[in-house]
Amino acid sequence: MPFDIEKCARPNILALEPYRCARDDYKDDGTNILLDANENAYGPGLDLSKDGKLSNGTGSSIDIDLLGLNRYPDPHQHELKQKLIDLRNTHVHTSKDLSPENLFVGVGSDEAIDALMRAFCVPGKDKILTCPPTYGMYHVSAQVNDVAVVKVPLDVNNGFSAQPDKINAKLAEDASIKMVYLTSPGNPTANLIRKEDVQAVLEHPTWNGIVVLDEAYIDFSPEGSSLAEWAAEWPNLVVMQTMSKAFGLAGIRLGAVFTSRPIAELLNNMKAPYNIPNPTSQIAIQALQPENLKVMHSNREAIIRQREILLAEMPKIAGVGRFLGGSESNFLLVEMLDKPDGKPSNEVALQVYTRLAEKRGVVVRFRGKEVGCLGCLRVTVGTEPEVARFLQELKGVLEDVYGGKVVNGPSKEVEEAKEQEANGVIA
Ligand SMILES: Cc1ncc(COP(=O)(O)O)c(C=O)c1O
Repeated sequence: MPFDIEKCARPNILALEPYRCARDDYKDDGTNILLDANENAYGPGLDLSKDGKLSNGTGSSIDIDLLGLNRYPDPHQHELKQKLIDLRNTHVHTSKDLSPENLFVGVGSDEAIDALMRAFCVPGKDKILTCPPTYGMYHVSAQVNDVAVVKVPLDVNNGFSAQPDKINAKLAEDASIKMVYLTSPGNPTANLIRKEDVQAVLEHPTWNGIVVLDEAYIDFSPEGSSLAEWAAEWPNLVVMQTMSKAFGLAGIRLGAVFTSRPIAELLNNMKAPYNIPNPTSQIAIQALQPENLKVMHSNREAIIRQREILLAEMPKIAGVGRFLGGSESNFLLVEMLDKPDGKPSNEVALQVYTRLAEKRGVVVRFRGKEVGCLGCLRVTVGTEPEVARFLQELKGVLEDVYGGKVVNGPSKEVEEAKEQEANGVIA
C-alpha cells in the first residue's frame, strides 16, 4: 500500500494540534456553572416560551420551516443582510449607508477569519499581524492556511491599548503582511480599541493591506461603539461581528463581515454556495425583529448589571488583585495573588482555576500564560445566581489555597506543563 499520510498531507496541516475548546475540559452536564467561554449566560435573545419550545402553540415566536428543509438555502441571504445593515447603519461614524452588498455572512466569525486569510494571503509567503494577548483562532487559522504571524503586543503597561506606531513600523518594513487583526473589545482584555488607533493603521502611507476589526463583543460596549458602518468610508476596513455573544446564539453559528463592496464580493465569490443553513438564517432573521431585539437588550442590561457586581465585589475577596484591561465586554480579566495584598501568581491562578472547576463546579478560564496576563483568570459574566455562587466559591477556594489546604509543590516542569495545558484552550 503506497499511501502514507505523513508524506501525502500538507506539512502545516500535519503539524496542527487537535483544536481544544472550553467544553473539552469541563462538560456542560447541567451541574457546572460555565463562565469560561464568554457565552451569553442569560440565553438566546429570543422571545421564547419558558421551556424554550419552538412554534406549534408552545408560545414561541420562532417558526422554522421544517417542511422546506429538502431545499438548499438562499446563497445570498439578502433579507438577513438587510436586517443586519439596518441594525448597524447608526450614522454615528458616517453619514453614508451600508447596503447588503457590503456584507458577507458566514458560519460564525470563524468562517470569516479563515475566508479572509484565503482571500488575501498566499500560503507559505504572506503574513498576518496580530496584537497579543488576543483570540487564539487567528493563529489557528493562520497555521491551517500556512500563513506566518507577526506579533505586535498590546501595550501591557497602558491598559492593553493598541500600538499603532509599532504596528505601522512593522507594516512599513514587511510588505508580505496582508492583514492586521484588531479585536475590539479585546479577548481576553475586554477593552475597546480607540478609533484613532484604527484610523492610524488605515492611513498607513505605504502599506497595501486590510485592517480587520473583530467586534464579537461590541454590543456589551457603550452604544455607538461599533465601527461597522465606518466600512462605508474605507476601502480596506473589515469589521467582523457575530450572533454568538450579545445575541446569545452561539449554537446557530452566524457571523457577519461589514466591508467595502469589492472585499465583500471577493468573500462572497469564494464561499461555499450554501454556507448558511436554513434554520440558522431563519432564527437569525427572527432575532433581528423588534420583539426579539428587546429580549437581547434586556439580557444585555442584566449582564451589565452582573458585570458591575463582579467589579464591586471581587476586590473585597482576599487574594484577588487588579482587573486588567477594560470592562467593555461580557467577561473580566482579573489577577490572583500569591498572598493577600501580594503579587500576581500563575501558580495560585492555576490552583484556583482547577479547584473551582473540579471541587466546586464553577468553570472559568486560565489566561496566565498570555502576554501581560500573569496570574490572570478570565471570568465570563454569569446570571445573578451564578455570579453569587462564583463569588462565594472563589472566596472559599482562595481561603483553601492560603490556608495550605491545597497540596503544594509540583516540580517547576510539571507546574509549567499544567499552566501551558490550561492556557491552551481556544476561547
Ligand atoms: C474575539 C472573538 N472573535 C470571534 C469569536 C468567535 O465567534 P463565532 O462564534 O462567531 O465564531 C470569539 C469567540 O469566543 C471571540 O472571542
